[in-house]
Amino acid sequence: MLVVGGGQAGFQVAASLRADGYDGPVRIIGAEHHPPYQRPPLSKGLLLGKMDRARLLFRQPSFYPAQAIELRLGETIEAVDRQARTVATSTGDVLDYDRLVLATGTRVRPLTVPGAELDGVVYLRTIDDCDDLARRIGEARRVVVVGGGFIGLEVAAAIRLLGKPVTVLEAAGRLMGRVVAPVISSFFADLHRERGVEIVLDARIANLEGEAGRVHAVAMADGTRHEADLVVVGIGVLPNVELAQAAGLRCENGIVVDAHGRTSDPAIFAAGECTSHPNRFAGGFARLESVQNAVDQAKAVAAAILGRPEPYDEVPWFWSDQYEVKLQMVGISAGHDRQVVRGDPAQGRFSVLYFKEGRLLAIDSINRPGDHMTGRKLLTAGSAVDADQAADETFELKTLLPA
Ligand code: APR
Repeated sequence: MLVVGGGQAGFQVAASLRADGYDGPVRIIGAEHHPPYQRPPLSKGLLLGKMDRARLLFRQPSFYPAQAIELRLGETIEAVDRQARTVATSTGDVLDYDRLVLATGTRVRPLTVPGAELDGVVYLRTIDDCDDLARRIGEARRVVVVGGGFIGLEVAAAIRLLGKPVTVLEAAGRLMGRVVAPVISSFFADLHRERGVEIVLDARIANLEGEAGRVHAVAMADGTRHEADLVVVGIGVLPNVELAQAAGLRCENGIVVDAHGRTSDPAIFAAGECTSHPNRFAGGFARLESVQNAVDQAKAVAAAILGRPEPYDEVPWFWSDQYEVKLQMVGISAGHDRQVVRGDPAQGRFSVLYFKEGRLLAIDSINRPGDHMTGRKLLTAGSAVDADQAADETFELKTLLPA
């Protein structure tokens, strides 16, 4: 077993294989120098210095030798030879495999405007990025965040909690527009503005201005400028498909896999946010960027490799923490034709339920964890939910669950 990638999905494939009785050799090749760790706290607790670093690791380093999992860190796979069933590593080694799992994840989408290469323009993806960002926030006088998606807004919240001025520049007309309804975008815009974040929507960056190689302002297409000695970019991610592509595997917005994580080569599997997989909740193929997807897809891959195939069919869920507000999302709302609000946005506790042709597609909840948990069960069961009934806060969604 050779697992390419030491992130959430790569770790889970190896751990599940061992837990479920696989007794052959297992290797994980990870590009980073840290044992596999959770990424969500990098834009939240860890950035705020509120989380014990040891808790970031999925397992302590001793776990790997104890489980006979060979962890090779700081190494990448450069090429796959499917005929020979070998891979070439960045250190010049050639390793063989019976089964190869690509859990190569995503990388940050780079900002391409002039000046983007200046010192003080940073991204957040890894522990090392997080440490560097925390240090830079400590030294910064003014920060600009490019991108009002999950990373941008979580980082902006952390920067405010750390007491620094921050401006968010979002290209679209609303925040987190890729995923949530307008009512949720507005709620978060108000929340961030109340906490002192300046938010600019429909933002067009012309270039970044620097002095002696260091960024000092963001110049906009409309002629305005935002001074900043630190610019944090969170404008989305790109799937790492190049290795798969070069090996001739089918890729289309990710490495294309079936419900068991099989690629177009029966000896090669893939899991996590690098994959495009059939997802009934998305109504077709989807590439999902979430912990849930990485874990559940990895388990399906391990099961298939062990010869006990169980298709990946879990309801997608996501979350974001900004200040003390918890946004929880379940299902895929894309394609909805109706939405209803349950609860009162003015009270800071509400859910948005999305429907298509009368069928519940997704629920986004703000400080209503009960709706989220019930939503997971309703969507998994495919229960009928009446939109008007759901909009009535006094109506218990739980009563719609199968007995
Ligand atoms: N200028 C300003 N904003 C931009 C630009 C740009 N040039 N290009 C894109 N954006 C905006 C998009 O409109 C979007 O609102 O950046 C935002 C990116 O948001 P996401 O797609 O949510 O990506 P990001 O916040 O980078 O998060 C990446 O990490 O935590 C995970 O779930 C998260 O999967 C997501 C990933």
